[in-house]
Amino acid sequence: MTEIVLGVTGGIAAYKAVTLLRELRESGVDVTVVPTSSALNFVGEPTWAALSGRPVATDVWTAAQDVPHVRLGQQADAVVIAPATADFLARAAHGIANDLLTNVLLTAHGPVIIAPAMHTEMWQHPATQANVRTLRERGAIVLDPDDGRLTGADSGPGRLPDPSLIADMVRELLRSDRSRTGLDLAGTHIVISAGGTQEPWDDVRFLGNRSSGRQGFALARTALARGASVTLVVGNTEDPVPPGCTVIEIGTAEELRVAMHDAIAGQDPDVVVMAAAVADFRPVTSGEGKITKESLDGAAPQLILEQTTDVLAEIVAKRGSATRPVVVGFAAETPHDGETLAERAQAKLARKGCDYLVANEVSGGAVFGESSTSILILSAEGERAHLTGVSKADAADGLWDIITADR
Ligand SMILES: Cc1cc2nc3c(=O)[nH]c(=O)nc-3n(C[C@H](O)[C@H](O)[C@H](O)COP(=O)(O)O)c2cc1C
Repeated sequence: MTEIVLGVTGGIAAYKAVTLLRELRESGVDVTVVPTSSALNFVGEPTWAALSGRPVATDVWTAAQDVPHVRLGQQADAVVIAPATADFLARAAHGIANDLLTNVLLTAHGPVIIAPAMHTEMWQHPATQANVRTLRERGAIVLDPDDGRLTGADSGPGRLPDPSLIADMVRELLRSDRSRTGLDLAGTHIVISAGGTQEPWDDVRFLGNRSSGRQGFALARTALARGASVTLVVGNTEDPVPPGCTVIEIGTAEELRVAMHDAIAGQDPDVVVMAAAVADFRPVTSGEGKITKESLDGAAPQLILEQTTDVLAEIVAKRGSATRPVVVGFAAETPHDGETLAERAQAKLARKGCDYLVANEVSGGAVFGESSTSILILSAEGERAHLTGVSKADAADGLWDIITADR
């Protein structure tokens, strides 16, 4: 049975940790809640006790014979702190152990995930940012807060991410093979494009594709769980974006192109993964509002397409002879003319010049919107992995395994 400590600190978002606790319990995780004394001003001990089904550990002095300040951290498969106050981040960054939760943090053997929540000024204060940097450097996974409505009428970065998305991250951390990978991507910055582009035909219609963004999101979630920092360039998805990523939203292939180049130039990432389904063609538009039946006077509408820029090839060309970033392309293929998926993928890898190509067969609409996939990972050395009928998270881990092994 998996055992986690849920630390709750004294922020207004403490009530959302109740939902997080429920989700974790429903996933079959045993949870010991450790609220700070300030947190108990927001949500009382009986709520935590009833929902966790356990006594709540609140201080280092109760049941001292069990040495809870050491035992809880040592026994936990993971420690999750949500919400984390500015005060808690400061104490944690400096190794202060003046309550039970900070003691647990110093004795934790497993991964630590921290979800800060506070007013924008507190979040952006250089002291808080320095504390977050310190905690990340030490291997804690600190999720960036969401940008949105805060306690009062004000809004900005500082909001606790959706509890169910935090629960997804915790589940990702607890996946059985996470103890194998550990934080092997710590210190690595990765830019990932996910989702699909939409190319306007007129003011109300567009050409899109069936990408759900799930593979890109799985790449982001698994990379975060392995300690990386992630920027997601996201187009037109319905699934919620994983918390903890820097998010840049795009609509069209051209917007994606600009966002990718800006992210690469501005962030100097170690790895770039082009998992988004980028349109190869876009309608040549007249730019004159909505095309109506009346305006066509009974004639069939003409949809004229032009090619978009090949963003992957452009990224590789811009990198030139430099060794970073490592560039990964994704290719959704429908093999034909007797060519196998592997042959098409190898030819594409050579044509694009990227370091790795992840190919999947999408004949008949397979893969898009599904939670499982089958992929072929190729590099210049040839076929590196063939994963069939795996979850998109396992597929993502398969790619990170190869990239970390090659570094
Ligand atoms: C109504 C109210 C809301 C608060 N919300 C937050 C918050 O969202 N984030 C934060 O960092 N501090 C917030 N604080 C301040 C913390 O409660 C205060 O810094 C406290 O010392 C934190 O203690 P802890 O870190 O031990 O839980 C709030 C205080 C009050 C009275």
